[in-house]
Amino acid sequence: MKWNSQILNLHSYQPGKSIEEVKKEFNLEVIYKLASNENPYGYSSKVKKVIDEEATSTYSYYPDGYASELRAEMAKSLGIKPTQLIFSNGTDELLHIISKALLNPSKNTIMAAPTFSQYKHNAILEGAEIREVPLINGEHDLEKMLHQVDDQTAVVWLCSPNNPTGTYIADAKLRGFLSKVSKEVLIVLDEAYFEYVKTDDYYNALSLVQEYPNLIVTRTFSKIYGLASFRIGYGIAQEAIIKALEPVRQPFNTNIIAQKAAIEALKDQAFVAKCAKVNREEMQRFYDFCQKNKLEYFPSQGNFILIDFQYDGDKVFSFLLSKGYIVRSGKQLGYPTGIRVTIGTNEQNTGVMNAMEAFLEQVSASK
Ligand SMILES: Cc1ncc(COP(=O)(O)O)c(C=O)c1O
Repeated sequence: MKWNSQILNLHSYQPGKSIEEVKKEFNLEVIYKLASNENPYGYSSKVKKVIDEEATSTYSYYPDGYASELRAEMAKSLGIKPTQLIFSNGTDELLHIISKALLNPSKNTIMAAPTFSQYKHNAILEGAEIREVPLINGEHDLEKMLHQVDDQTAVVWLCSPNNPTGTYIADAKLRGFLSKVSKEVLIVLDEAYFEYVKTDDYYNALSLVQEYPNLIVTRTFSKIYGLASFRIGYGIAQEAIIKALEPVRQPFNTNIIAQKAAIEALKDQAFVAKCAKVNREEMQRFYDFCQKNKLEYFPSQGNFILIDFQYDGDKVFSFLLSKGYIVRSGKQLGYPTGIRVTIGTNEQNTGVMNAMEAFLEQVSASK
């Protein structure tokens, strides 16, 4: 068949192992999944109520493809116009929509490396030239990224906090970059984890959107809001960008229950604040653990931490798996001797740190 040549070497997305798979393989009763940066506290109790209510409603009609109610709530909560928003089936779909709208084989696109895998994946699908700029100490090298921009550059992808390092882009650096880059280039600022950020020099993405006509900020309900299964992401930009992207979106890309769940989740900012606070406290425990065990790590503003074990990441991963903890090996993330761990509950974190300590003891005993 006449497949597009660029897809022939592409692999489908490899999700972490499921809890059921690991239970069976290792004959374990309890498994903790700390691999995909989901919220270990689930979602707001307000969401539960709406899901139960919706279970009795009819599903034979198409949902409101424009997500009008969610749009109105979100616009009110952010203090922007409803027409400055686009909703998608997770941020993943929005990244895909952006790529479809702007990339093709005659254009190039710039991203950090390592960063979230889907920027590159989508660019390959569209046959665009990919320009990857290595991180410095886990952080975006915005100066080098700027130098890579030319007349054929269509999109620059920024991820803050960056997955998998957890590092963020400071306000002054981001503003410096935005003020110098051509307004002909779309800048995508992926803020999947922004609700977790607790640092003084973080930028205000909403004012940047009002200032820069070539900026789109992407966010999600999959992380701190705990709604990953529902698949709701959104983009915030000036109206002209949204107007250009809307026709690329599938007509009914977000479903009715997901829209209702997101509305309720959005209203419960106390839940969001509580999760962010506990995440920071638990993150500190990981810092202390790494310092005690002389392990390098990147200070993280997300709900995950990348730890360097100076040992084959797949082996660390397998050891932790056998103890009932699913984490992410750094091998597939560009850090072959590291692992990325989602910050879990206090109990989960104690457990995974004990397992990591057992791994370190095993390694030192075998030396
Ligand atoms: C940086 C980043 N962007 C986007 C996504 C995708 O999020 P969603 O569930 O909204 O598709 C993730 C998921 O892990 C992520 O880490």
